[in-house]
Amino acid sequence: MSKTIKVLLGSVRSQRAGKAVADWVLSKGEENSVPLELLDLKEWDLPFYDEPAPPMAGEPYSHDSTKEWSQAVDEADGFIIVTPEYNHGYSPVLKNALDHLYKEWKDKPVGFVGYGGSGAVNAINQLTPIVEFLGMKPVAEQVGISPVWEAFDEEGNLQEDKVSGDITNLFKGIQEEIQS
Ligand SMILES: Cc1cc2nc3c(=O)[nH]c(=O)nc-3n(C[C@H](O)[C@H](O)[C@H](O)COP(=O)(O)O)c2cc1C
Repeated sequence: MSKTIKVLLGSVRSQRAGKAVADWVLSKGEENSVPLELLDLKEWDLPFYDEPAPPMAGEPYSHDSTKEWSQAVDEADGFIIVTPEYNHGYSPVLKNALDHLYKEWKDKPVGFVGYGGSGAVNAINQLTPIVEFLGMKPVAEQVGISPVWEAFDEEGNLQEDKVSGDITNLFKGIQEEIQS
């Protein structure tokens, strides 16, 4: 049975660089025969978290938006989080999306692709204990794109010298963890 890896895009600005980064991840997936699906938080447009009980309490969700988000996350076997860095941290929409759920994230591998002025190392370092608290399994390989404003040419192609880390190793890490 084929496994589902979802690419969680944590940037919603109108002029965001994140979409080009997520599209690059999706194209690399295709190139390496790793099927990926995009979870674009701009399209999801989740409200600020407002459930009566914390997700780890396991009580039924009260909002349709949470129920739909729960289903989308639950059907994934692993994740790639594409994160920008804002003021040495992760984006608020990403934290909001993570906070909405608990069991749907638990025991699933996650890899990080960060971008910004410095490959979003601070954002990834802050996200790591958060996803671990949710029971997720971060894979060792991390990919950084920096500076992201110089990374894409006029045709939208990513310049490989602006990429650190190996996206194929990140895919492998997620697949191995899913199969273990
Ligand atoms: C509010 C804000 C704060 C930023 N802070 C940082 C930062 O601390 N470190 C960094 O490397 N880049 C920083 N940047 C640059 C962003 O990483 C870069 O603009 C990136 O394109 C943002 O992702 P987005 O375009 O998908 O929203 C910041 C950008 C914004 C808008």
